[in-house]
Amino acid sequence: MTTPTAADPPGIEAIRAFPKVELHVHMEACLSAERIEELAAGFGIPMLRPIESLFVYATLAEFLEVYEWWCDLLRTAEIAEQLAYDAAAQLSADGIVYAEVLCGPRYWPHLRREPLIEALAAGLERAHGDGHADCRLTPSISREQSAEWAMGLVEWLGASGPSRVVGLGLDGNEELLGRTSPKFTEVYARAAELGLGRTAHSGESSGPDGVWDALEHLHLDRVDHGVRSIEDPRLVEHLAANGVTLNVTPTSNVITGLYPDVDHHPVGPLMAAGVPVTINSDDPKAMNVTLSGEFEKVSRSLGWGLGEVAAATRRAIDAAFCDQEKAASLHRQVDDHVRGLTREPAGKDHHP
Ligand code: ADE
Ligand code: ZN
Repeated sequence: MTTPTAADPPGIEAIRAFPKVELHVHMEACLSAERIEELAAGFGIPMLRPIESLFVYATLAEFLEVYEWWCDLLRTAEIAEQLAYDAAAQLSADGIVYAEVLCGPRYWPHLRREPLIEALAAGLERAHGDGHADCRLTPSISREQSAEWAMGLVEWLGASGPSRVVGLGLDGNEELLGRTSPKFTEVYARAAELGLGRTAHSGESSGPDGVWDALEHLHLDRVDHGVRSIEDPRLVEHLAANGVTLNVTPTSNVITGLYPDVDHHPVGPLMAAGVPVTINSDDPKAMNVTLSGEFEKVSRSLGWGLGEVAAATRRAIDAAFCDQEKAASLHRQVDDHVRGLTREPAGKDHHP
């Protein structure tokens, strides 16, 4: 048996036990293949593919096609409520204590957006009441949707959205849809007036131009992905100088073909350049990813210990859209955990 040293990356159990925060995770991708099969059978709909290959994709476009297929099975408010509950329980089981979960009404054609968001919020509320992670919602516009639709969403969120809604997101395939950020300038300005946090996917299916565009037109608080910023040194400098947080998702970027493996992911170079980066799972069930697993891979690749896991968690808390009181309590939870870790070796001596 070898003795762990400071240079050893933390084991998965130590990472799982760490009170983590996730800012980039999609509700619809928290649905398991087994639950999809069950829903399909219930509605008498044949599976798109055999269950073993359902979650196999080579590109973002293919992933989003399959995503749209299984989302079509999410047909009732009860299914939505249960999915949200199960997602919170699943994130909790991975040691996540706070998450902001994206949900895309465009992917739920059988439900109107208002009852959908209310049902998801109710599921998260019930889960938190049962002791699971405190999960908030970030409704996400799809880039192909109209500005009118998006403005309607934002006005409703401001007037009578559930209190678990904390922000606004934007996602979709920029490679296919082209330059769509300018379309949502007024929508994002209104979201800011209404106190919603602002994030958007860019720099995944778009290059640095997509990130510049999103920053200029949407005045983002943070960016989902943003990894292709690394291709433009001036943009990297801008992100670092302005403290714009990138919510990166290493395995998801490998699966959709952006990078050959996590060792070639730009998370390390972005951090070395001073960009605030958080680690996230993106699509847990649909890409067989957990946040703990992502931290383990990044730790192995970059030589991180639990100190770096703690630092990334603190950056996530600082970039979260919750109120200051909640952020302070999350910081305290991290501090307490870290204090317990440093006390542990001495504590052990006292046990017989
Ligand atoms: N929806 C879910 N995951 C996504 C991703 N990685 N990029 C764009 N849209 C998404
Ligand atoms: Zn995403």
